[in-house]
Parts: sequence; structure tokens; C-alpha cells
Amino acid sequence: MEIRTHQQDCQKKMGFVPEVTLGCSGQTMPVIGMGTASYPMPDLETAKSAIIEAMRAGYRHFDTAFAYRSEQPLGEAIAEALHLGIIKSRDELFITTKLWCSFAERDQILPAIKISLQNLQLDYVDMYLIHWPVRLTQHVTKTPIPKEQVVPMDMKTVWEGMEECQNLGHTRGIGVSNFSCKKLEDLLSFCKIPPAINQVEMNPLWKQKELVELCKAKGVHLSAYSPLGANGTKWGDNRIVECDVLEGIAKARGKSTAQVALRWVYEQGASIISKSFNKQRMRENLDIFDWCLTEEESNKIIQLPQHKGVTLASILGPHDLVLEIDADL
Ligand SMILES: NC(=O)c1ccc[n+]([C@@H]2O[C@H](COP(=O)([O-])OP(=O)(O)OC[C@H]3O[C@@H](n4cnc5c(N)ncnc54)[C@H](OP(=O)(O)O)[C@@H]3O)[C@@H](O)[C@H]2O)c1
Repeated sequence: MEIRTHQQDCQKKMGFVPEVTLGCSGQTMPVIGMGTASYPMPDLETAKSAIIEAMRAGYRHFDTAFAYRSEQPLGEAIAEALHLGIIKSRDELFITTKLWCSFAERDQILPAIKISLQNLQLDYVDMYLIHWPVRLTQHVTKTPIPKEQVVPMDMKTVWEGMEECQNLGHTRGIGVSNFSCKKLEDLLSFCKIPPAINQVEMNPLWKQKELVELCKAKGVHLSAYSPLGANGTKWGDNRIVECDVLEGIAKARGKSTAQVALRWVYEQGASIISKSFNKQRMRENLDIFDWCLTEEESNKIIQLPQHKGVTLASILGPHDLVLEIDADL
């Protein structure tokens, strides 16, 4: 994995988005991606316009999932951005999508990625992630899910299916999301293609210290979702954007609290998946690569009390297996 120094980054110009090299594949990924999970999900045209606006602002990395229902607007936005000349080729983009839990079975994985590719109007995605390490026996129409429909996932055969997706060229890379240290080590013990990424919640109030260290040691890149604590969504709150310590640092530096949180995540060596469909905030969130936190500021952030925000139980219901996954992460 490519290592950059803060000093090198601080010399970069505003608007520049650094890239990270994933594993040993040589695949590169912009270190900030635009999330597309939105609550409530806006209509297709609104989501599509926001994504096109993000491309105009300089985003080239987009994070979607079958479960977000944002694959289709992202696909439409890519097609229109090509038509308008905002991007010259699809290859300029890094597109991540995810295998939803109701497809987490060996014979469902190829059909699932094909549905996602069709939604996205693409021949391949850049990254395909297992969304959560659990299987749902039925397609979800509403949540919470009845307890009997939430069952353990057979990680060996599911990963075989993920490897097949990569071998067939449907995705350039494969990885996981919401995998604890234990689950990641288990997967690494038998996989033929190692996961390039583990996408998990990470922010100044949920530092994931142990997982960050394990990922570094094993060459798995950690990607941080909800870096702003999912401010204003059903699954998050304002504890990051209204955190006194972050606000104090932000005021002193002439930055926003959100920028301080995003910069901190980046300085931990993680990539950032943050979402904004607001023209000004999406630009603000990109403007974090030409300055650094001081040692004193980082030390203040390290001391912040920890509190996990996103839980699977809040989505699927407080079932034993779900609570086990939440407790592990
Ligand atoms: N793998 C997983 O299980 C998983 C779970 C959760 C999320 N994700 C991915 O990660 C992405 C980001 O995570 P997230 O959406 O949960 O949370 P987030 O990026 O931490 O926060 C998004 C929220 O913060 C607001 N916001 C954005 N920029 C802001 C700023 N500068 N100041 C104040 N508020 C700001 C946004 O509102 P506006 O749009 O109005 O700006 C939005 O409501 C998701 O969209 C999704 O793609 C993955």
C-alpha cells in the first residue's frame, strides 16, 4: 500500500484528490468517494443531478449498493456525464457497489452483480464488497426483518462467488464491509484473492484502532463510511459536526468541523466515503488535502470518548446474530 507523508500532502494544491494503491493488484482509488446512501432517498432526477454536480466538483469515486437503490441514478448520472463531456471515459471513475445480504449465497452472487451492472449501465465495477457478514433468506421489502430470516453467511462459498466475479471481469477488485478483526482474519485464512478493502464506520468518535492496525498489517485497505457521523440521516446524528473539540480546532484553523473530521480520518491512512448532495458541502468536503492537523490537534482528537453510531440492529432488528455482529465491530 502506498504511504504518503502529511508534509507531501500539505504541499498539494486545493482541489487535488490523492489516490491510494490497493493491495498488490496495482489498482488505484481516489481517497475520497461520494456516498450515495440517502435518507429519504430522493427521486431519481434529484439524485442524478447531485451526482453529476459531484463530478463537476471533482469527485471520481462513487460508493453505491444494491440496498441503497442508488445504482440506477448513479448509472444515469455516469451516462449523462459522458454525454456532457464532464468525463471523457468511464475509466476515469472508481465505482464501488455491494452484494446485499439476500444474495449472500454461492449461486446468487453472479446474478446479483449482473443486476447491479445492469442498474449502473456498466460492463464492470471497480470494487464489489460483501455489504454485511450475514445472510437474509428472503428479499427485504420492509425492516425490521423477522428473526428467522436472518441467518449466518457461509463465508467460504460466498467469497468463492466474489472471486468468480473478479475472475470473470465483472469487477476489478473485491472486498468486504462491516467485517470485524475476527471475520477478516477468518477470510484471510482461506481466500485465493485477498479482500482489497474493508469498508467500516470510522470517524473521530469511532476510531477502530484495532481494525486499523490489523488492516495495515494484512495489506487490506480500510475505507471509512459515516466519517461525519451520518449527520441528519436516520442511522446517524450530529455528534461529529457539533462536537465541541472538533469545533474548537475548526474555528482556530478557519475550517469547518466536518473538514476537521474528514482530515483526521485521512491522516489515519483510511480513505473516506462521505455523502453530500448539497453543492456547497460536497465541495467543502473535498477541500481537505492542502493542510494538516498539528500534533496537538491530533492528540486532542485521540482523547475523544468513543461511541459507535451505525448498528445493523437499527436496520434489521435486535436479533441475536445481528447483535453479535454489532458487538464485534
Ligand atoms: N458499508 C456500509 O454498511 C455503509 C453504511 C453507511 C454508509 N455507507 C456509505 O458511506 C456513505 C457516507 O456515509 P453516511 O452517508 O452514513 O454519512 P456521512 O457521510 O458521515 O454523513 C452524511 C450526512 O452528513 C451531511 N453532510 C455532508 N457534508 C456535510 C458538511 N460539510 N457539514 C455538515 N453536514 C454534512 C449530509 O447532508 P447533505 O447531503 O445535505 O449535505 C448527510 O446527511 C454513504 O452514503 C454510503 O455510500 C456504507
